Amino acid sequence: MSDNTMAYRPVTPAVANALADIVGAPFVFYDDPERLEAFSHDEVPGLGHRRRPEAAVRPGSAAEIAAIVKLANRERIPVTPRGAGSGLSGGAVPVHGGIVIATDRLNRILEIDRDNLTVTVEPGVVANDINEALSDSGLFYAGYPMSLETCFIGGNLAENAGGGKAIKYGVTSRYVLGLEVVTPTGDLVMLGGKLQKDVTGYNLLQLMIGSEGTLGIFTKAILKLIPRPRYQVDLLCLFPDSTTAIQTVPALLTASGITPTSIEYMDRKAIQASCDYLNESIPYENCGAMLLISIDGIDEAQLEHDYEIIGKFCQEHGAGEIYVADNPSTSERIWKIRRNIAEAYNVRFKRQSCEDIVVPPAAIAAIVQAIDAIGEKYQVSIPCYGHAGDGNLHCTVCGREEWSEAEFEARLREILAEIYAETVRFGGKISGEHGIGSKRIGYMASTVRPEYLTLMRTIKQALDPNHIMNPGKIFELT
Ligand code: LAC
Ligand code: ZN
Repeated sequence: MSDNTMAYRPVTPAVANALADIVGAPFVFYDDPERLEAFSHDEVPGLGHRRRPEAAVRPGSAAEIAAIVKLANRERIPVTPRGAGSGLSGGAVPVHGGIVIATDRLNRILEIDRDNLTVTVEPGVVANDINEALSDSGLFYAGYPMSLETCFIGGNLAENAGGGKAIKYGVTSRYVLGLEVVTPTGDLVMLGGKLQKDVTGYNLLQLMIGSEGTLGIFTKAILKLIPRPRYQVDLLCLFPDSTTAIQTVPALLTASGITPTSIEYMDRKAIQASCDYLNESIPYENCGAMLLISIDGIDEAQLEHDYEIIGKFCQEHGAGEIYVADNPSTSERIWKIRRNIAEAYNVRFKRQSCEDIVVPPAAIAAIVQAIDAIGEKYQVSIPCYGHAGDGNLHCTVCGREEWSEAEFEARLREILAEIYAETVRFGGKISGEHGIGSKRIGYMASTVRPEYLTLMRTIKQALDPNHIMNPGKIFELT
């Protein structure tokens, strides 16, 4: 049965009362359009990506979440888990109505275990707060993404968030050792533990990470910690044009002999948008694009040696000026500009679509050129920035001023179809870190193999026979 034809039942007053019995009346919103509006969207812009739930609940424990899901499963009511609502693919949008389960009250850091190098957290903890809590410990949680100041760790796990340090540290999934999950049938299971190795059965833990809330709701996570790198240096390298900048990236990865923490690319338009938004000035006037390259480590002299090699390498590959940030305040100033590009477009551009395609790293320059050509063809601006060293690019399709929302959506479909086709042609995928959600569900069938969809449907059917857990996300059920 497709989730479009699945006969979901409404949240009746009796169900709302049952929800109040589980979590307490103050934590249930029902028959209250104004309050429910807040649970209708994430950060994907546009009316087409919003839907109000019939009810929203703010449970205070894993047991309450399990009871809500059991009730929903029995009643055939869809449930949609929600973290901070900072997602970029509609993951937290209740596209079939039903109940939104917000995890904001489960916001405790439960344990920092120095002996086992773990931190145990609830899903509603803001990602940045984990490292704040670890600040005196000499330890570090490396799995957080760019939106670290607002996003919840639960959402990071559900989306398998990426971020700016994946070249050296990998993405969120590398740092998850244990996960407590409420399954779609309302059972509470613990996967993994404080274990560096575990092959005791299927790797269900990793199946859950990145499942976008379609296979369960996470209620607790044991995260792996590493020694905090003591020193960091950032190089802001100004290039005359985007091609020269982006072509340097794969060369730097393979030929410099150094593994940077990050190689972030920003074209001129992206830098300008963020600087305007932040009211910041950096000397971008004479450059066409920048690379922000970070290295970190425990040996200051080694770092100095490494950044000189990288700086020289970039100059040999066409960089003009290079600014070195070797103290936290200058570093924060530069990174703030990079981190705020997406927000700048969100706030200042009414009609835009932030993409996060990923290609093999060596194809990054070719895909940037292909996207430029698509922008030319449709006469639209498609600024590009992102985690160039990972092959993960945030090309942001900006609608023309004069376009209505409907016109933008129609053009966007054509433009995205072309961008995605090029991405696949280069051996890439349509999402590297933001997820498919509801936003990209319509592009799955044309960009992945049918056998892959079949496998995912089989897993979904086995774990969620009534299709209540975040339906309308990632793939259609038939
Ligand atoms: C970033 C978000 C958009 O990299 O993923 O800024
Ligand atoms: Zn990103």
